[in-house]
Amino acid sequence: VMGALANKIREAVEKQFTEKLEELKAKKLEEKIRSEIVDITLPARHQRSGHIHPLDKALREIMKSFIRMGYSVEEGPEIEEDFYNFECLNLPKDHPARDMQDSFYITPEILLRTHTSPVQVRTLRKHIPNSPIRMIAPGKVFRWDNDATHSPVFHQVEGLVVDKGITFADLKGTLEVFAKELFGPETKTKFRPHHFPFTEPSAEVDVTCFKCGGKGCRFCKGSGWIEILGCGMVHPHVLEMCGIDPEEYNGFAFGVGLERIALLKYEIDDMRLLYENDIRFLKQF
Ligand code: DAH
Repeated sequence: VMGALANKIREAVEKQFTEKLEELKAKKLEEKIRSEIVDITLPARHQRSGHIHPLDKALREIMKSFIRMGYSVEEGPEIEEDFYNFECLNLPKDHPARDMQDSFYITPEILLRTHTSPVQVRTLRKHIPNSPIRMIAPGKVFRWDNDATHSPVFHQVEGLVVDKGITFADLKGTLEVFAKELFGPETKTKFRPHHFPFTEPSAEVDVTCFKCGGKGCRFCKGSGWIEILGCGMVHPHVLEMCGIDPEEYNGFAFGVGLERIALLKYEIDDMRLLYENDIRFLKQF
């Protein structure tokens, strides 16, 4: 009798305990829901995402074009030896063409590179006999210049091809494909004779103005043509100085100013805008 009674009491106590516990739990949940109320009809907070800088965008397009044609991408130091920057490129100490380059010298033998062409020399000196060189070298270069179209730090993309039996036709064909990929299939190129100490013959390349199609406008200053790069057949003396026999090998080289391409492609009229990092400007690209 006592056992049965004890069981009944336990059951009653347990029941009440569970009921109270459930009641408290429900109350707590309700409080939580009330305190964490969210108005799902409010507009979401906009996440601002960044994007590629116009300079990098132009570089990626240039690289894509050449990588597709089988070029590798090389790098060289920004602090460079006079030997690579000038000497080995057929620009000896007393060469008048050195005057074109307002250089930042660190010591008489070391300077901030004035162009990406020393990467040509560095690549040529690593040449393995019977293997072709096909490379581009993008990077920063430095000259004492500062206005709307010149910056003391700017970027170039160098190109170099060396193999047996390379002709000027290979150079023309390559740059024509490149210009069409960059500025559109209607683009025509024009090779104007020019002089660079490290190429012979040398040329500057103009493309038909992509804005007016060659008719002449404000953009191309009425001429219908826009200059985009310098190029030529690698000078035999440069090959020789890099330990390559110019009787056996030859090749072509070119140098593109990246800022110039970006300014043209995105219709920007002041180079300094590219470096100011003003979000109102960058947002437009
Ligand atoms: N290094 C030249 C400059 O900075 C550009 C250039 C011209 C590079 C002709 C080349 C070339 O490779 O063949 O003005």
